[in-house]
Amino acid sequence: MRVDVLPLPDHPSANPDGPAVVIDVLRATTTMTAALAAGCRFILPAAEVEQAVDLARPYRGGEALLCGERGGVKVEGFDLGNSPLEYTEETVRDRAIILTTTNGTRALAAVRDYRPVHLGSFLNLAALGRELATADRVTIVCSGNAGRLSIEDLACAGSLVRQLEPAGPELTDTARLAALLFRSVRARLRSFVAASDHGRALAALGFASDIDFALRLDSLALLPRLEDGRVVR
Ligand code: MLT
Repeated sequence: MRVDVLPLPDHPSANPDGPAVVIDVLRATTTMTAALAAGCRFILPAAEVEQAVDLARPYRGGEALLCGERGGVKVEGFDLGNSPLEYTEETVRDRAIILTTTNGTRALAAVRDYRPVHLGSFLNLAALGRELATADRVTIVCSGNAGRLSIEDLACAGSLVRQLEPAGPELTDTARLAALLFRSVRARLRSFVAASDHGRALAALGFASDIDFALRLDSLALLPRLEDGRVVR
């Protein structure tokens, strides 16, 4: 097995080989995993707000929810923002979700040539580790934030790398770096993530509890994946 970690989704398609795992701890892949756990039918990720509005058009009232954020806050006129806490069973069960986020949904668009494309977060790393244990190549793609590294994504990638270690993988330098990072912060993960650029920005917007949600380690044994443009469980 060969494991690579891409710190940003800028150049993932040069050699799309084997499975990819897209990670956006704060908050897109955490939120999509929570939405699927709460019983939504599927999620249509859209890179742009206008695209999300277009995708929602064919659905009749109540069938789908138009969701997403810009600058961390709900897009005006949308049903939900991007806080995982909004995606309760009562709200999303049996509904389609159309979601646009600043970085996470764009990262999904960037890796669409990989097969399969999994969604990773701290919520489902153990399930992912089991699923990928026999893969020949694994590419873990961090979503980052506006073209800059998000350290919580790299730490989450490192946790997945460590879960794949029993297979004796060959690790790229970035995979080794991610694993080292996770090892050094795992005992103080909450304060580490809260002190990240994105963690501080979310807290300033009143979303500090989303950080606690995102750090419910292995609370969901779900394997969300991208299939024909939809995120399904
Ligand atoms: C993103 O996709 O950039 C994030 O999920 C932003 C956010 O915190 O909502």
